[in-house]
Amino acid sequence: MNRRILLVDDDAAILRELEGHLASKRDEWDVVTAESGEEALDKLEGHTTDLILSDTRMPEMDGPMLLDRVSEVSPSTIRFLMASVRDADMAIRLGSAAHRFLVKPLGANDLTSTINAALELHEMLDSESLREVVTTIRSLVSPPSIYSELVDAVRQPTFNMDDVGRIVMKDPAIASRVLQIVNSSFFSLSRDITNINEAVGLVGLQMIKSLILSVHIFTTFSEAMQVVVGVWDHSMRTACIAKTIMKMERASSVDVDTAFTAGLLHDVGKLIFATELGDRYLKVFERARMDGQPLHVVERRVMQASHSDVGAYMFGMWGLPDSLLEAVAFHHEPRRVGTTWISPLIAVHIADYLDHSELGDESALAEQANLDLQQLETCGIDSERLEQYKEACRQALSEQAAQ
Ligand SMILES: [Fe+2]
Ligand SMILES: [Fe+2]
Repeated sequence: MNRRILLVDDDAAILRELEGHLASKRDEWDVVTAESGEEALDKLEGHTTDLILSDTRMPEMDGPMLLDRVSEVSPSTIRFLMASVRDADMAIRLGSAAHRFLVKPLGANDLTSTINAALELHEMLDSESLREVVTTIRSLVSPPSIYSELVDAVRQPTFNMDDVGRIVMKDPAIASRVLQIVNSSFFSLSRDITNINEAVGLVGLQMIKSLILSVHIFTTFSEAMQVVVGVWDHSMRTACIAKTIMKMERASSVDVDTAFTAGLLHDVGKLIFATELGDRYLKVFERARMDGQPLHVVERRVMQASHSDVGAYMFGMWGLPDSLLEAVAFHHEPRRVGTTWISPLIAVHIADYLDHSELGDESALAEQANLDLQQLETCGIDSERLEQYKEACRQALSEQAAQ
């Protein structure tokens, strides 16, 4: 059955252009357009719409308002919000119902592949088989309450950056751990940071939010970390490598931060499995090693789901952005979403491979990871570029180790 995509913009010329961008998928996607929020809501009625892409600034009902409504009347519709560079901050602040933000102008290839990736991701997360596995897992946890409080606070018109410190300090354990990481060699800041507001000023709100999530996860699953030895170091290194690659590609700061966060969180599913199965999970590692197969392949065989599947599923329940879910879900198999650009997913895929193959320590080397060279080629990464990444990342990691 064809997918239904709804494009919303008050500018008819932009709508026509976007429609043209998606022309290559004419056989698979039915593209419908609307020139206002009201019209969009009318068009949602009575049809299953897979994805809505709305402009931010529109008269009467703006994009964030529209997507809020869509999340109520058609919760399974994937919600994209697009904004001009000028409005991007506002869109991110107000559009909490959006799964993803896109900055205009949008190129045909990038737009098609981004929509394709989202459809693929949501199909995977909604699949009956994954849901069946996940319902048997008791170890899924909720996000920390200060995270949800932050997300809410940012949406308030009276929001002030000083609010961040006030909220985060409600959980002193998380706050002090976040400060510890900000002061660690991973951020190479020139001076000591002693409070959260200062940290926000230096590394950004997005990064503080990511660190809150990571700290919460790695403390909640501390017992599992005794089973999956080295997972914190592997995660930090993967984050650092992914960030270095994105920076080399001059990616936007949002994408650099997403790659870093996804690197930190990409293997959370291992901690979920280890909590669930205890030492028995090590047998799965053992099996993978003996069969010379990647871990996720053996996990699917034994547990009917991989650590990337269950990790992405849990983060999906937390309402984390699609770009992050995508990088977690497909870090072993980027081909499944057919990306054509160097996205956070591609950076994490390469970073995970590099840490498991050449740049990591012994515990990282114990796991086999494969690099999808053909996919990299599609994104314009050749062997020479890969060597350059390797060199730069080796340097970045050793600088950190030296500090
Ligand atoms: Fe993994
Ligand atoms: Fe990994």
